[in-house]
Amino acid sequence: METEGRIKIQKIWGLPQGSEVKIRGWIYTKSHIGGMLFINVRDSTGMVQAVFKEDLLGSKFQEILAVGRESSIILTGEVNIDERAPMGREIVVKDFKIVGESKDYPIRPGMSVETLLDLRHLYLRGRKPSAVMKIRSEVLKALREWFYANGYVETTAPTFVSSAVEGGATLFPVNYFGREVYLTQSSQFYLEAMIFSLEKVYTIQPSFRAEKSRTRRHLCEYTHAEAEIAYADLNDIMDVCEKLVKYVCKVVVERCKEELEILGRKFKPLNDAFPRVTYDEALNICEEEGVNVEWGEDLSTEAERAICRRYGKPVFVYKFPKRTRAFYHMPDPENEDVVLSTDLIAPEDAGELIGGGQRISDYNLLKKRILEEIGTTEGYEWYLDLRRYGSVPHAGFGLGVERLVKWIAGLSHVRDAIPFPRTPARVYP
Ligand code: 4AD
Ligand code: MG
Repeated sequence: METEGRIKIQKIWGLPQGSEVKIRGWIYTKSHIGGMLFINVRDSTGMVQAVFKEDLLGSKFQEILAVGRESSIILTGEVNIDERAPMGREIVVKDFKIVGESKDYPIRPGMSVETLLDLRHLYLRGRKPSAVMKIRSEVLKALREWFYANGYVETTAPTFVSSAVEGGATLFPVNYFGREVYLTQSSQFYLEAMIFSLEKVYTIQPSFRAEKSRTRRHLCEYTHAEAEIAYADLNDIMDVCEKLVKYVCKVVVERCKEELEILGRKFKPLNDAFPRVTYDEALNICEEEGVNVEWGEDLSTEAERAICRRYGKPVFVYKFPKRTRAFYHMPDPENEDVVLSTDLIAPEDAGELIGGGQRISDYNLLKKRILEEIGTTEGYEWYLDLRRYGSVPHAGFGLGVERLVKWIAGLSHVRDAIPFPRTPARVYP
């Protein structure tokens, strides 16, 4: 690696006039004025203006004139403090080497969303997508930090599974040595198995949904942060989710000031308690806000908007009608028509960030619910076993990482929160 004496661009802001620097980056923009060429060079830490002067570089000046945007370059030069430079400093180049040429870089301003998605592998180099990817990295880091600090053990679950967690409608079938299996929709059942030894577990890994609905919040493959806790109930889950989301928002705002600024996003850390409303109360709010939801239906996007409009902050809705939720949810002992589940919904059209709740821990009840909903226990025997040998009350949740990134970064579409989105129409690049 060409690293000797090299510094990252970010370090340049602290250097005095005349310092010798060597940087390694890519050519972002180029403008030629008289015998001088101004090039914005970027690396993973930032961007700096490099000035190439014909009288200093002699015949090599023609070489730099000819190279295109996104060529990779190593250059040496001197720091010059100059108010007219974009960041108040520039590098006057003494020598350079083009590492990889780039001709006719295909990304230009004003391109359509579809074209940019076709060119996603290149588009990701841009300032805004790079800022989003850094925010995403901090979100993932903060999730892990919180889980570790609170005594959770990280684990993983298989991607190939033989039965549905969240219903058959969104399963992706895969040919597994001639047998039909599926891509996992959620690691929940495997996490449930792990609580019997580890008590508090989590995983961050992809989940797959064959979502036919094309919305701004659905991906076919997304990053799912899920946790499961022995002896926890519905209230514990809401407490845990509130602390986790507040922690992630707080540290991301602290650590990603520059990235949020690049995105023009003013996101404030959340201090107030998240309101907790039952599904029935949520329906009343919807009615007052002029949105009609029939009792027994899941909350529509419009309904979620109406509820968040009322509070202007994330809201837990809990105790959903049984028929809107998967079979594993614990019925409310006070009302068998609803289950001890919760969704955390967030404002600004973020919608549902988290789904979770208390699980059925009783063998007979779980078996009854599987038979009612699926018609057979085939494929669920191991899951039933968990209730046969030392069952305990327990609860858990799943958080959509891209939905959280979309909200924090103020993105209009969830596909921009993942490097290479998978949507019904897109598996390339
Ligand atoms: O509400 P969901 O379907 O719940 C479960 O999968 C539970 N088994 C999780 C658990 O309790 N361990 O999904 C959980 C979260 C949603 O709240 C949403 O944030 C996200 O996963 N999500 C999606 N994100 C992007 N694209 C999709 N198609 C998503 N489907 C769900
Ligand atoms: Mg859900």
